[in-house]
Order: sequence, then C-alpha cells, then structure tokens
Amino acid sequence: MKGKIVFVAVTLGAAAGLSRAWEPVISPLSAPPSRSADATQIERGARLAALGDCIVCHTSAHGKPYAGGRPLETPFGAIYATNITPDMQTGIGDWSLDAFRRALRDGVSRDGHLLYPAFPYPHFTRMTDGDIADLYAFMMSRAPVQATAPPNHLVFPLNFRPLVAGWNMLYLKRGPEQGVAVPASAPSAASDPRADAGNAPNAASAYAVQWQLGRYLVNGVAHCAACHTPLNKLGAEKRDAPFAGGTLEGWDAPALTKLSQAPTPWTQAQLVSYLRTGFASQHGAAAGPMRPVTQSLAQAPLEDVDAIATYVMSLQTPTAATPTAAPARPADLEQLAPPAALATGATLFNAACASCHSIAAPMSTQGDRPSLAQGTAVNADSPRNAVRMMLDGIDWHGSDAAHFMPSFAQTFTDAQIADLANYTRARFSARGPWPGLDAAAVARIRKETAKP
Ligand code: HEC
Ligand code: HEC
Ligand code: HEC
Repeated sequence: MKGKIVFVAVTLGAAAGLSRAWEPVISPLSAPPSRSADATQIERGARLAALGDCIVCHTSAHGKPYAGGRPLETPFGAIYATNITPDMQTGIGDWSLDAFRRALRDGVSRDGHLLYPAFPYPHFTRMTDGDIADLYAFMMSRAPVQATAPPNHLVFPLNFRPLVAGWNMLYLKRGPEQGVAVPASAPSAASDPRADAGNAPNAASAYAVQWQLGRYLVNGVAHCAACHTPLNKLGAEKRDAPFAGGTLEGWDAPALTKLSQAPTPWTQAQLVSYLRTGFASQHGAAAGPMRPVTQSLAQAPLEDVDAIATYVMSLQTPTAATPTAAPARPADLEQLAPPAALATGATLFNAACASCHSIAAPMSTQGDRPSLAQGTAVNADSPRNAVRMMLDGIDWHGSDAAHFMPSFAQTFTDAQIADLANYTRARFSARGPWPGLDAAAVARIRKETAKP
C-alpha cells in the first residue's frame, strides 16, 4: 500500500507541475437564484438527476436529500460528498450556473479548489450545456438544508488537492463527445426485434438515434463505467478495458460486456426491467451499490432507460467458442446427496436458505424468483458477490417481499459462510470450486466494507 501511494503521489505531482493546481474563484451570487425557474426546465433537470443518481452519493444514511455527508470509500481513504442543496452558507446556493458548469465539466469548486474524481465529473463533463443548465435549475429548486460534510480521511499526500491537477492532465477529457458513428458491429435494424418488417430504413435510423442517446447517457450523466470499468493504480478507469468489470465498496460490478454469455443470455427487456425495478426474471435482483442506482433509475423516463439498455446490449463481446459461463446445472443434479466435504454447507443451506432458494421452495415462486443457478454471483470467477450477498442480504423495501434476503453477517461465522458458499457453488454452478475459499478468505471479504 505504502509503495503504491508513493508511486501515485510522485506521478500526480510530476503531472501537476505542468498544469494549474488552483483555478480562479467564481464570484458568489449575493442572493440565491430563483427557486422557481421554468417548471418544464426543472422537470428536465429532475430527469438528469435521476439518471445521474446524484441523490445516492449526496445523501447520508439518515440525512436530508442532497445535503451531503455520505463517505465514499476509496483505496486512498474516505471522501465525503458535500452539500449540494441551494443553502447560501453550507450548500451551493451562492453558485452561478457558470460555477456549477465548471464543477461538472472540470471538477473545480466555486472557490477554485480542485474536486476529487470520486465525484464522477470525468463522466459529467460529457453532458451538453443545455443539460447542465436544466440540472442546475432542478438543484436550485430543492429545499435548502444547512449541513456541512465531515472532513475527508485521505492518506498523506493525497489529501493535498492540487495533486488532482496532475490526475486531470493525465485522464480528464473535457466536454461532450463529438459525432460518434453507430458502429457496424451494433445489431442491425433487421435483427432488432422491435423493427417492423417493411419499415427497415426508419427502424435503422430509430435504432441509431436510440443508440446515440444511450451512449450519451451511459458515458455521461449515468456514469456506468465509474463502477463497471477496472481502475488503474491512480484510480482512473482503464481505457483499454471499458466496462470489463470493477470492484467497489466490497462488491464486484460485473462486466457489462458479457451479458450475452450469462447462463441465460440477457435480453433488452430484462435489462430494462433490471435497471428500473432492480429485478430481472431469469437473472435476479440488484443488490449492494447497484440497488440504489436502480432506485434512482426508477424515477427516470422509460425511453431513457431503454436507450441505456440498447447501448449496453451493443457492448457485448462475441461469444467465444467455449463460453466463459458454463451452462446452469440441470435441476435433477440438485437432488443428489452432497459429497462429505460439503455436508456442513448442505445442512446449513437446508436450514437457512432452502425456504427461499430450493427449486420447490414456497417463497421461490414469489415474484418469479430465478434459481441461484441463473445468477451472476454463483457463476462468477470470484466468490466476492456471493459472500457479500450472504453477509449483507437485500434490505427490506416496504412492499417488495420478493426481493428481500436477510443479512446473515451476524448469524454465521466466517467458516460457516465459507461452507455455505462452497456448497452453493457446487450445487448451483457447473463451474469448478472457488479456489481457497475458506474462513480467512471470508474474513477478508467481510473487512472490505467494515466501517472505519
Ligand atoms: C459516486 C458518488 C457521486 C455521485 C453519483 C454524484 N456526486 Fe457530486 N460529489 C461527490 C463527492 C464525493 C463530492 C466531493 C468531492 C470533493 O470534495 O473533492 C461531490 C461534489 C459535488 C459538487 C461540488 C460541490 C462543492 O461544494 O464543491 C457538485 C456541484 C456536485 N457534486 C454535484 C453533483 C450532481 C449534480 C450529481 C448528479 C448528476 C452528483 N454530484 C453525483 C460524489 C458524487
Ligand atoms: C455505484 C456503482 C455502480 C454504478 C454507478 C452502476 N453499477 Fe451496475 N452494478 C454495480 C454492482 C456492484 C453490481 C453487482 C450487484 C449484484 O450482484 O447484485 C452491478 C450489477 C449490474 C448489472 C447486473 C450484471 C449481472 O451480470 O448480473 C447490470 C446489468 C448493471 N449493473 C448495469 C449498470 C448500468 C447500465 C449502469 C449505468 C446506468 C450501472 N450498472 C451503474 C455497481 C454499479
Ligand atoms: C427470505 C428469502 C431468502 C433467504 C432465506 C435467503 N435468500 Fe438468498 N436471495 C433471496 C432473494 C430475493 C435474492 C435476490 C434474487 C436473486 O438474485 O435470485 C437472493 C439472492 C441470493 C444470491 C445471489 C444470486 C445472484 O447471483 O444474484 C445468493 C448467492 C444467495 N441469495 C444465497 C443465499 C444463501 C446462501 C442463503 C442462506 C444462508 C440465502 N440466500 C437465504 C432471498 C433469500
């Protein structure tokens, strides 16, 4: 860790030396901007706030919406999201549109200090001026809240903000993308199930329009790659591996380029459902950091989420001769007695999990719950999400019993979780056992999200 930090600091420092580490102040407004701008503009801004899930990071556990104070855990320490309500003293009430645009485009706060890229400005920079103005109108229409985020806990020397200038020089590509052509590899209109026969040219251009919108949203305000792309040592997305899967807050965000290789390949409709309801039949439920994303997307227009799904579907890498995900095990294999090594796991599973997860479970019919064999977690290369799921469960969200799973963090020891995971893998996935998944490995995964 120490060596890594030194490397990061030296690289950023060297790059920062070549660029500006402090930007000019933009004068504060003397009175808050109108809170009742054009209602349709506020509505357009609300759409963008939902797509950008601003509320997720900018709201603390028991705090008021957008009032900040939620810590973001990074490999370099915790960064707190700040108050973005229009409060004049503690929020962004005295920010002009210019100051807001500069924050989203360049990652610079109104007073000129550089913001950390844990704030996804490397994606928000892609937004058009018009969209940024709409979002500004929406933010300024929120209720002002007095609140100040706690100070960050970053390791030295990364707590020295001017180093971000170096990061920006290396990785920030400012401004909207220009004229991206629809790739030839994208499914043609003819293979698009929504294309009406006899209507092909129109359908082709409708597809192109939707794909362009999807790309604009995914790479911009919706910042999907911020979680779903692996990061390099300096915490920047690897350019040569877009959407190849990332790790954050103790969870793996699976590759978005392999949805066509799942035990049951994802369809566009399932993807739309997953993104807007947090659940897709034949795949499962969104948990961990993905769940709040889906709760925010639920507030976004269906057309936008459909466009996002269109673009994500076009990212699929062609299936190799041997698919990486082996086919799901046939149900009758589940009836066989487990080998001795897995006997403890089997007993625990039957006691604690089978009521929901066995083929004939009474609760498995609720909400069309898929077999564990169809989920990504049990078939993944790493046991992280399966273990995380057992530790964290899925919170109860009022009415949605079908998507609830209790947390077992306090119920089972590390060794028992390991037994359960190894048994679950053997029973529900045709892929081999996870190497080295024992109590110590579970303890490491547990620690990844332990609060400081
Ligand atoms: C992944 C978490 C995350 C998301 C999503 C997010 N932010 Fe932030 N944002 C942050 C963090 C963390 C900071 C503080 C960065 C710092 O202090 O260096 C921040 C800072 C800001 C600032 C600068 C505030 C100041 O006082 O300097 C603005 C403006 C802002 N965010 C607006 C937004 C808007 C608008 C959205 C939605 C489109 C959004 N953010 C979504 C994490 C997030
Ligand atoms: C805050 C981080 C974060 C953001 C932002 C995010 N995701 Fe995710 N995503 C995750 C995590 C973590 C998982 C794994 C959750 C689970 O297994 O339940 C996930 C799971 C998924 C899955 C299920 C994949 C599978 O194989 O089961 C899809 C599809 C998905 N995300 C699409 C998206 C899209 C599209 C966006 C942008 C609109 C997005 N995600 C934004 C973190 C994120
Ligand atoms: C009250 C019902 C309930 C119980 C009990 C329960 N689960 Fe779950 N579990 C769910 C629901 C709902 C989901 C989300 C739907 C899905 O993803 O299949 C889920 C998802 C999972 C997943 C992720 C599947 C994927 O790939 O997305 C794993 C792994 C899992 N459960 C394991 C277990 C284990 C092991 C136990 C026992 C220790 C257990 N569950 C107990 C309801 C339950």
